Amino acid sequence: MDIHSQVLRQLNNRREGFSLEQPFYIDPDYYKLDLEMIWYRDWLFVGHDCEIPKAGNYVTLQIGDYPVLVLRTREGEIRAFHNTCRHRGHRVCTKDSGSATRLVCPYHQWTYQHDGTLMSARHMGDDFDKKQFGLKPVHCESVAGYIFVCLANEAPDFAPVRATIQPYMAPHRLAETKVAAKNTIIEKGNWKLVWENNRECYHCAANHPELCRTYPEAPTATGVQGAGDDPFISEHWQR
Ligand code: FES
Ligand SMILES: [Fe+2]
Repeated sequence: MDIHSQVLRQLNNRREGFSLEQPFYIDPDYYKLDLEMIWYRDWLFVGHDCEIPKAGNYVTLQIGDYPVLVLRTREGEIRAFHNTCRHRGHRVCTKDSGSATRLVCPYHQWTYQHDGTLMSARHMGDDFDKKQFGLKPVHCESVAGYIFVCLANEAPDFAPVRATIQPYMAPHRLAETKVAAKNTIIEKGNWKLVWENNRECYHCAANHPELCRTYPEAPTATGVQGAGDDPFISEHWQR
């Protein structure tokens, strides 16, 4: 049985309310499939508007095999590109974050504008058409100060993502904030395990007593759906 059918069979047979079978968390082939079927196809949260407040500010990140660059253009737009030089594939921006009036590849100095167009490529000859070698764009959207990208050729409709997120995030006016400090947490575990933990606060009483002072332990508190109908949560918001 090929791995696609095997995974589908296991997903169809999964027991509601129980963990997935072991290979979903540890098997490198399952992980590769996760990347292909989910991470390279859907919208991913990658950062905040306030991390790149000025024209030329950028952040870089790695999504599976793909280096990605997110930047603020001179017009104030947030754009994303594959952070891969169209000459020989060097990373164009090599730092985690920075600021650049132009994007200069450190290998042979091909130089790109904020909109990804190639503006200079030394010694390439008169018949070289720079228009054909701009940075490859990545779909990019921003909602309530949160930036999302999608690596797929055809991105799924962003409207439902926007509609879900906007009401929760807009009141915090994150686009008007500034970065005061940064903290990187690397969790050494499969991403599904991280999210399964994130979606429940059953473990909070034992592990985050300080959080429990401000955050309800109710199962609906961490869910997007249903929280509004839960009297416990409604009462919490009133407070
Ligand atoms: S790889 Fe970027 S200029 Fe050659
Ligand atoms: Fe060299």
